[in-house]
Amino acid sequence: MSDVLRAGVMGWPVAHSLSPVLHGHWLKRYGIAGTYEAFPVQPDELPAAVNRLRDEGFRGTNLTVPHKEAAMALVDRIDDTARRIGAVNTLVLQDDGILSGTNTDAYGLIENIRAFAPDQLAAKFGDRPVVILGAGGAARAALVGLADIGARKIRIVNRTVARAEALAEIVADQEVDVHAMGWNERANALGDAGLLVNTTTLGMQGQAPLDLDLGALPEAAVVNDIVYAPLETGLLAAARQRGNPAVDGLGMLLHQARAGFRAWFGVDPAVDEELRQAVLAARAQ
Ligand code: ATR
Repeated sequence: MSDVLRAGVMGWPVAHSLSPVLHGHWLKRYGIAGTYEAFPVQPDELPAAVNRLRDEGFRGTNLTVPHKEAAMALVDRIDDTARRIGAVNTLVLQDDGILSGTNTDAYGLIENIRAFAPDQLAAKFGDRPVVILGAGGAARAALVGLADIGARKIRIVNRTVARAEALAEIVADQEVDVHAMGWNERANALGDAGLLVNTTTLGMQGQAPLDLDLGALPEAAVVNDIVYAPLETGLLAAARQRGNPAVDGLGMLLHQARAGFRAWFGVDPAVDEELRQAVLAARAQ
């Protein structure tokens, strides 16, 4: 085993992943003798690839599509956050040989909002309701993150309302009132809200635009889109135009990566403009 600390990301496909760029940026900046590589791993190869981490001296890896759910059965320990989200995106080989799985998306979403709107986050968005658009994996992470910071009232608005209803079960043990709403109720759901988070794919490059009337949204409400291609989505542009604080989605990717970097390489890395520009330049290629 060499002294070089090894980490990476497994996915299929994985070539599009920006994680090697951002971890590579941090390894260089902090002068750490480490590597972070992209590993194309087909779904049926995942168990063997995870087993090899130990033999090949890895500190751990990230997991991306389509491995985040399947990996839950392959680790020795899953933390409570990953269990509630139902997916693992970060593996850590601990010093005692235990392979643990966590999910850093909830942390990334919250830390990104904290970076742009610290006062609003500290005030729990004025204790007003929080609105989550969508009910997929990203919505699960948003729900867990927001319930954990103490949001008391969360509205989940989704085209398939049964998926929104199922999400409420995730935080059933927590002191939070979750209300599932249908897609045709989306404009009304914004009334009195303190935070709006779009976790759907609408507004993403190559997807349909997000058709949403912001008229009922209070002007003080923070608006966060987790879509970051384009960086300035139609939703964020409309929010800024009417005076709402707007938080773009790139920071979620950057902040969620901090937790893995810290566990593997022992440094809590900075998310700053230089990193944002490095990742945006790579995305443009
Ligand atoms: P992820 O796991 O990345 O969050 P996902 O599970 O595919 O992705 O979720 C995509 C979200 O965008 C879902 O909430 C989806 O709504 P459904 O649950 O009804 O499928 C939502 N979405 C995608 N296209 C949509 C559209 N044209 N109108 C409304 N919602 C849409």
